[in-house]
Amino acid sequence: MSDSSVIIAPSILSADFRILQQEVESVEPYADWIQVDVMDGHFVPNLSFGAPVAKWIETNLPLDVHLMVQNPADRVEEFLKIGAAHITFHAEVVEGIEDRKALMQAIRDGGATVGIAINPETPLSAAEDVLGEVDLLLVMSVHPGFGGQEFISEVLEKVKEARAAHPDLMIQMDGGVDNKTAPLCREAGANNLVAGSFIFRAENREQAMASLRESA
Ligand code: DX5
Repeated sequence: MSDSSVIIAPSILSADFRILQQEVESVEPYADWIQVDVMDGHFVPNLSFGAPVAKWIETNLPLDVHLMVQNPADRVEEFLKIGAAHITFHAEVVEGIEDRKALMQAIRDGGATVGIAINPETPLSAAEDVLGEVDLLLVMSVHPGFGGQEFISEVLEKVKEARAAHPDLMIQMDGGVDNKTAPLCREAGANNLVAGSFIFRAENREQAMASLRESA
């Protein structure tokens, strides 16, 4: 791990799956976490992969599992089994406080840290009831489902609001993060940045990740 003020998490959704392990090894020395985007084709208009694929990833870095699924409670067990260090579920699909607390407990009982995510159109208030208890808030800066989309700058207001209310909370941003948008994310208060296409499409992945850190 290099610079501790910001966590950089490459999203393997943009990696070449024919050589997934090689792709992970190409970013590992310069990254802090590896993000695994799990999409079910229901909550989001795309189908990615599950634990049967993710289990083959060999890395010393924490696996950050972003569950973009309609039924996260049904998926947690299998990702805990493959050693997920962190699991994030979406506020839009787990609305009741009891359900949220039960899911958070299940994730923590399995030894992972827990996060809650909000889509661009979802207000911060939709997650407020657990922001004092989760380890991470994920503010999506694209509509989830695909890599390579444009950054939605309007969501930065929610990051500022969350940072002001929760000074110690880890705030992650995901979607359209590159060397131009990363400084905006940092200024707003984010301290964990996910990037897919900017890193995996870069000619020099080390430099690409270094440029995201320069935003710190
Ligand atoms: C999109 C995923 C993101 C995506 C980021 O739904 O959650 O992690 O892979 O890709 P870029 O950085 O290309 O927007």
